[in-house]
Amino acid sequence: MSTIQCKINEILGAEISGIDLTRPASDATRAELNTLFSKHAVLVFRDQPLTPSQFMQAAEIFGSLMDQQIKKFVLPDYPLVGCNSTKDLPRKNGKLQVRGENYHTDHSNDIAPPKATSLLAVDIPSYGGDTQFVDVRRAYDDLSVRQQTAIQHLRSKHVHESSRSPRSFAKLSPEEMAKIPHTQQPLVIQHPISGRPALYLNTGRMEGIEGMNADEGFALIDQLYQHATQAKYEYRHQWRVGDMVIWDNRSVMHQANADYDPEEFRYLYRVMLQGDKLQPFVRIRTI
Ligand SMILES: [Fe+2]
Repeated sequence: MSTIQCKINEILGAEISGIDLTRPASDATRAELNTLFSKHAVLVFRDQPLTPSQFMQAAEIFGSLMDQQIKKFVLPDYPLVGCNSTKDLPRKNGKLQVRGENYHTDHSNDIAPPKATSLLAVDIPSYGGDTQFVDVRRAYDDLSVRQQTAIQHLRSKHVHESSRSPRSFAKLSPEEMAKIPHTQQPLVIQHPISGRPALYLNTGRMEGIEGMNADEGFALIDQLYQHATQAKYEYRHQWRVGDMVIWDNRSVMHQANADYDPEEFRYLYRVMLQGDKLQPFVRIRTI
């Protein structure tokens, strides 16, 4: 019988307890966790001080690990495990230039973007550095039927860095840039397991809307972004050492915060799970 307990957060996500992720999970536990994951989209596991290999094993409960795009930020002995360290961050006017300081979904310019991302907190500053998540399924659900119908068929070109990106990205070598794809993604996607529609937005990478002039396209993106990032869709995770958090990139957007003391050390491991090509949401008409 399962020992897993699931405490559902008020707005988004759930905290899972009664499991030791240092040990391999049974088939029944894996199935139960995957069901919870497709429903709640953000799962938090507290008090899991995992080694890199245990972290990989825990993340693999939810899918297959994929390569890290930026090879200079990986663990030398575990190339599938990225590391997010304050020591690697550039500074501007004394402020750390934190990657991901704007709501986004990871690698949305990939033809098959990662279906999930997971972080494990190894060192955490005494304050700040939370990760915020917003539920883009509920954001879509709350649009009027007229708005939903107007955007449902639209697509956007996602590139490495949009000409109107509100954030800057890691500078890549010409070899790395040559491997970076760009692709047209649906503006409204359908989750392959739950079937739920969701807005698919990434203002750092979206280069307008197909078939619209640039100003109209970017205005629509901005309008949807402002709608989807309201506090009523948000779960804010305050990190503790030993937290493992996994989120579904097809159901939520996330953002980092650079509001901690830059002299304090912050260090997390990161893995990503292989995803499939995104599917546009197709409404089934009822008569
Ligand atoms: Fe991210």
